[in-house]
Amino acid sequence: MEKRLQNVLAHAGISSRRGAADLIARGKVKVDGRVVTEKGYKLDPRRHEIFVNGQALPREEKKYYILFNKPTGVISTVKDTHGRKKVTDFFKDIKARLYPVGRLDKDTTGILIITNDGELANKLMHPRFEIEKEYQAMVNGFLAPADKERLEKGIMLEGIRTSPCIIRRVKRTRDRDVLRIKIHEGRKRQIKRMFEEVGLKVTELERTGYAGLRLGRIKRGDYRFLTESEVERLSRIGENDRSG
Ligand code: URA
Repeated sequence: MEKRLQNVLAHAGISSRRGAADLIARGKVKVDGRVVTEKGYKLDPRRHEIFVNGQALPREEKKYYILFNKPTGVISTVKDTHGRKKVTDFFKDIKARLYPVGRLDKDTTGILIITNDGELANKLMHPRFEIEKEYQAMVNGFLAPADKERLEKGIMLEGIRTSPCIIRRVKRTRDRDVLRIKIHEGRKRQIKRMFEEVGLKVTELERTGYAGLRLGRIKRGDYRFLTESEVERLSRIGENDRSG
C-alpha cells in the first residue's frame, strides 16, 4: 500500500512528520538510490529501499489482511489460559503477530478480519467510522412487525440507545424466522441482546458482511487474503473525515 514518504519516516521513528518533511526537502532521503525531495512523495515502503542520512531504514514488516470465516467453538481472543481453540490457531503458518479485528462470540460464525496492521484494525474498530456489519440470525420464534420497528428505530441497551438499523426477513420456517440485520455498531453480544429485548433468543448467528466485504464462498474455517484494492478501500475509510 502506498504511503507518504514523510509518514513512513515518522512511523519508523526517524523524527516527527514535520522533521521528516524537512529531511526530505533538504535532500537527505534516498529511495532506491535516488534523492527524493518532492513534497507528498508516495511509495510502498515494503517494496523500496529507503536511506536517511546514508542509513538504511529497516523494511516494514509484511502486512497480512485476511478474511476468515470463523467456525463455531472458536474464541476471538489472542490469549487464552484455558486451552480453548482460538482464531489465531488457524494461522500458525503465518509468521506474523496476527489478531482479529473485533470479536465474535464463541458460537457465532462468519466474517472476522485478521491482520497485523494495527493502524487499520484500530480504525475499523473505532465507533466513529460506523463500519457496517451484516448478520443473519435465526430466532426461536417470529419477529412481530411492531418489535421489528422498535429494533430498527433503536432500543435501550444498558442505558444507551442502539443506532437505527435495518432488519429484513430472509426465511420463515414452521416455527422460526431467519433475519438479516445491518448495524453500524459493535457492542458486546449486540444482536443477541437486541432480540432478547423483544423476547426472542438467537439460536444461530452468522456475520455475512463487514465493511462492504462479503463472506462469498469461503467455507467455515477457511480464509482468503484481501485483494490490494480491498485493502486500499478499507484504508481510505474516514480519509475525508475532518471532525477530529
Ligand atoms: N452480536 C452478537 O450477539 N454476537 C456476536 O458474535 C456478534 C454480534
